[in-house]
Amino acid sequence: MSEIAPSILAADFNRLGEQIKEISLAGVNILHIDVMDGMFVPSISFGMPLIKSIRKESNLFFDVHLMINEPARYLREFADAGADSITVHKEACSNLKETLSDIKKLGLPASVSINPETPVQAVEDVLNLADMVLVMSVSPGSGGQPFNPGALDKVKKLKEIRQTRGLDYKIEIDGGVYKGNIASIVKSGVDILVSGTAVFNGNIPENINSLNKIIEGKV
Ligand code: DX5
Ligand code: ZN
Repeated sequence: MSEIAPSILAADFNRLGEQIKEISLAGVNILHIDVMDGMFVPSISFGMPLIKSIRKESNLFFDVHLMINEPARYLREFADAGADSITVHKEACSNLKETLSDIKKLGLPASVSINPETPVQAVEDVLNLADMVLVMSVSPGSGGQPFNPGALDKVKKLKEIRQTRGLDYKIEIDGGVYKGNIASIVKSGVDILVSGTAVFNGNIPENINSLNKIIEGKV
């Protein structure tokens, strides 16, 4: 069954702790944490201190998405801050294999992400090292953008490769997921659906419940 991973990028940072509690109480297991450096993407979000402070209050699985150049420089710091898994971008790493291996050496699942313009072939040689592949369905850097349906072709391809090569990575999709398209995305077979705006805009538990109902096929 697909799972929702709310992205705190869309949270109200003035009430972040409370909102994370609301998410947990609504039955979510994974928190998606978007780190941006102002270089790999134009915007800057937050870094290790924020993760460290929410770690003290939350048992959710911290799915840390690093939208930063040469993330190899900071892997240990994100692990120490409380990441449960680390995603790096193919486009941001000069040595992707080594970076994924370094994440695993820290005892964490390693995940690779591809931007909308990057084909699956670009990461085929590292899929045996990946615990997860994050397919960007929007350009990385901001929430609230429309879903790019080309991402679903990549999901299909990644599922085929997983099957033929006997691999077991999870597939995550990130950006533009909302009530209106979540059913078709679930149908494509993704394991994890990142959603920011559609979770945090309005009533958080209600949003999560209605997204989950669609995932479970109850509406
Ligand atoms: C985009 C981020 C996403 C984004 C998702 O760079 O990686 O996680 O915040 O937000 P929505 O659901 O608003 O597209
Ligand atoms: Zn993300």
